[in-house]
Amino acid sequence: MSIRYCVIPAAGLGTRFLPATKVLPKELLPVLDRPVIEWGVEEARAAGVGIAVIVLSQGKELIASHFDRASALEELLARRGKQEALEQIQRAQQGMRYAYVYQGEPLGLGHAVLQAEPVVGGEPFACLLPDDLSHAATPVLAQLVAAYEQLHSPILALMRVSREQISRFGCATVAESRGNWHRVIKAVEKPAPDEAESDLAIMGRYVLPPSIFPAIRRTRPGAGGEIQLTDAVAALIPEGEVWGVEFEGQLLDVGTPAGWLATQLTLAPSSPTFAPVLEQFALGKAHEGKQ
Ligand code: G1P
Repeated sequence: MSIRYCVIPAAGLGTRFLPATKVLPKELLPVLDRPVIEWGVEEARAAGVGIAVIVLSQGKELIASHFDRASALEELLARRGKQEALEQIQRAQQGMRYAYVYQGEPLGLGHAVLQAEPVVGGEPFACLLPDDLSHAATPVLAQLVAAYEQLHSPILALMRVSREQISRFGCATVAESRGNWHRVIKAVEKPAPDEAESDLAIMGRYVLPPSIFPAIRRTRPGAGGEIQLTDAVAALIPEGEVWGVEFEGQLLDVGTPAGWLATQLTLAPSSPTFAPVLEQFALGKAHEGKQ
């Protein structure tokens, strides 16, 4: 059975991006011409998913408004012959339906994912953390879904990081490998640098079985006092195989101002609209005001 749902946690407070995110959800900050979360939805679509289940918290309703149809605006653009702009605002609807659930308390990523259970029900689903944008020939989530279709096991995205960095992430210990697929035998959320057993970080893309929901319910608060998705995934390991995909390409962090800028500079050269702007800067011509 193919993966129909992608759970997109967007309940976080955006504290790494203040003051820009004091009022505006960090998921709506633009990267090039579209909001961060739309890149995530496009990645889900490219992985064959047709339903985005977005986890909100109070005050983040603008995200739902963004994905709603805007018929008055559409009519106006059509009347004025602004075909390109019309297509841009209709793109998010194509091949994608949306469902929203709320996380009422900030109890952690595992708890956020658990809120999607009434929508996702008893089938395997994808999960994508929108703070990281895929920059890869085959989008990262599609690489995980391809592995899932062969292995029929929970799949994590893995990336090698330095020893200093590993304590910012979930950390996977792996056993056997099939190319860039590794069987995960242990998963620890944010280990201390001297306790990390590997340099493989668990990144924000997953394919998870419905048994993750009872596993989350059994998970006690862990790192940072939060209910961690990594701990719930670790609880699945004794029940059956869990695999990780050391994906090709990059995940670009847009959750901080510096990461956001670096992401724009990484993506702009392959955009027909934005590449010329960078070229102007390379020629030493500063921004000359209104373009
Ligand atoms: C979350 C996960 C962590 C993962 C990280 C990837 O942590 O809990 O396992 O490595 O995303 O970005 P957070 O960044 O929310 O602290």
